[in-house]
Amino acid sequence: MCGIVGYIGEKQAAPILLDGLSRLEYRGYDSAGLAVRDGDKEIEVVKAKGRLRKLAEKTDDGKAMIGCCGIGHTRWATHGEPSEINAHPHSSERSVLDAPGVAGVHNGIIENYQELKDKLLRKGYTFYSQTDTEVAVKLVDYYYHKYQVGPIDALAKTMVRVRGSYALTVMFRDYPGEIWVARKDSPMIIGVQEGESFVASDVSAILNYVRNVYYIGNMEMARLTAGDVHFYNIDGDEIQKESVEIKWDAQAAEKGGYEHFMMKEIHEQPKAVADTIRSVVKDADETPHIDLSGVGFTDEVIRDISQIYIVACGSAWHVGMAAQYVFEDLARIPVRVELASEFRYRKPLLDPKGMVAVISQSGETADSLAALREAKANGIRTLAIVNVVGSSIAREADHVFYTLAGPEIAVATTKAYSTQLIASYLLAMHFGYVRGTLGDESYTRMLKELLTIPDKISQILSEKERLQWFASKFANAHDIFFIGRGLDYAVSLEGSLKMKEISYIHSEAYAAGELKHGTISLIEDNILVIGVLTQDDLYEKTVSNMVECKARGAYLMGLTSYGHYVIEDTADFTVYIPKTDPHFAASLAVIPLQLLGYYTSLARGLDVDKPRNLAKSVTVE
Ligand code: M6R
Repeated sequence: MCGIVGYIGEKQAAPILLDGLSRLEYRGYDSAGLAVRDGDKEIEVVKAKGRLRKLAEKTDDGKAMIGCCGIGHTRWATHGEPSEINAHPHSSERSVLDAPGVAGVHNGIIENYQELKDKLLRKGYTFYSQTDTEVAVKLVDYYYHKYQVGPIDALAKTMVRVRGSYALTVMFRDYPGEIWVARKDSPMIIGVQEGESFVASDVSAILNYVRNVYYIGNMEMARLTAGDVHFYNIDGDEIQKESVEIKWDAQAAEKGGYEHFMMKEIHEQPKAVADTIRSVVKDADETPHIDLSGVGFTDEVIRDISQIYIVACGSAWHVGMAAQYVFEDLARIPVRVELASEFRYRKPLLDPKGMVAVISQSGETADSLAALREAKANGIRTLAIVNVVGSSIAREADHVFYTLAGPEIAVATTKAYSTQLIASYLLAMHFGYVRGTLGDESYTRMLKELLTIPDKISQILSEKERLQWFASKFANAHDIFFIGRGLDYAVSLEGSLKMKEISYIHSEAYAAGELKHGTISLIEDNILVIGVLTQDDLYEKTVSNMVECKARGAYLMGLTSYGHYVIEDTADFTVYIPKTDPHFAASLAVIPLQLLGYYTSLARGLDVDKPRNLAKSVTVE
């Protein structure tokens, strides 16, 4: 999704903007651009279609653009094809070639852009691009001139008229040395230190330069000068904010010797999982117990919750699918799992004593954020399981459980998914313990087992070469099916997504018992069917479904725990994982499936970290 970086200080802006944008490359984009200003000279704009290196070449790595104040953008096309003319920054002028009176970059979507464009056309504006951003920039310019007001009033009037989501960053010809921003529902942070200020849509863009950041809230604006920032509400009144120190290690967002971020992040899972467990498990070495006081749950609140609605997108939704089985079994609370994009519009009937739990790595996914707001509008208690500190979902939820995955760069999630699973086990165990559905002995035994999961993940990773060999054998497959029952179905969903999103091989996950209700007609000679069999009580049922596929020509891979060697009578290739408590098995079973997706993508020569058409953080609906 689009990325924004802005800088104002004593250094040359363009190289800093390019460096910041390069840290956002993982978000996915199709064009990029810069607007830079040297003192009170005219604002200069340069754009390029394609990868950021095209823009770097065009500007001699930024050295050809002189000036200490500038804004930059990587675009992921929504309105209008990927092209140089549609790339940001956009200008208030008739032609993209004229030096702008107002130059702006924007993340998000202006829903009523056509109506606003028609209005501006009537007022004599002309448009050179197909973008909603050009409309937003021209609307700012229109109010600025019509009412002869300052930038804050012009932005506020624009915000009142615009429907949709935006992180808007603009420079005005009349205000040299200043950058102005406005935000609604699209992430944006501001970093300030001695003599310089930064704005970015993602903290990783500026982590190398600044540690103290401010979160700009919804319907708020800011004015940045070198080393200073002022915030305003929609009425134009100045508001005060506290800065937050970012503790993420800048190194954590580098590849650290791995060929791809995804492989690095797969290998970071033992640590990420251990850190997340130890963030709430006290006295881990003696009598471990879970302390959720930091999340804000009292025993009374936990006892009072009647129903849990888990709402999320993509892999986070798959975590919800697994959490449903674990929560219902351990805490005996009814759980519904819903796609955020459906939940937000289906006018859900929510039990007032229920709780909506939103799971999100980024904490900025537009549909998940909207679902959270829908729950709040219904007066329902909300919990967020989030990785990015200070993200919108984290700030708006009543309770926050932070996963400690650290920055996740690869588009395909791995370590964030794993830590979300851990967070949901811990919540389910604690809820079960407090509600009396999980006894002392089981609670302690399970916690001790949970503490072994990081080592078991490391053990699986140490045997990854077999999966590389297997992936190369099936790299030209057209279809792959993942099947399992119960928790194995939940992990199959994630295995299938990992495969399709980075290898572009069509794959589907099915609850194994459902195959014969239609999908089995797709099974033919040598189609790969991967059976996940970690749940002892469902093992034989899934084996039967695998046999049904084999009878129709399928090639079978079995994924099960050590000891189930009889699977080799059925499967053509078997991957074993260490034994664990069945509630936690998804945490181990997913590792070979992540590796399989990774190695298949690698064997096909694809861009593992930045798969086509995808973005890391989906901030538009
Ligand atoms: O940031 P979020 O966890 O809210 O993102 C949700 C999905 O967009 C995300 O999990 C997506 O499905 C990943 N590409 C999966 O690898």
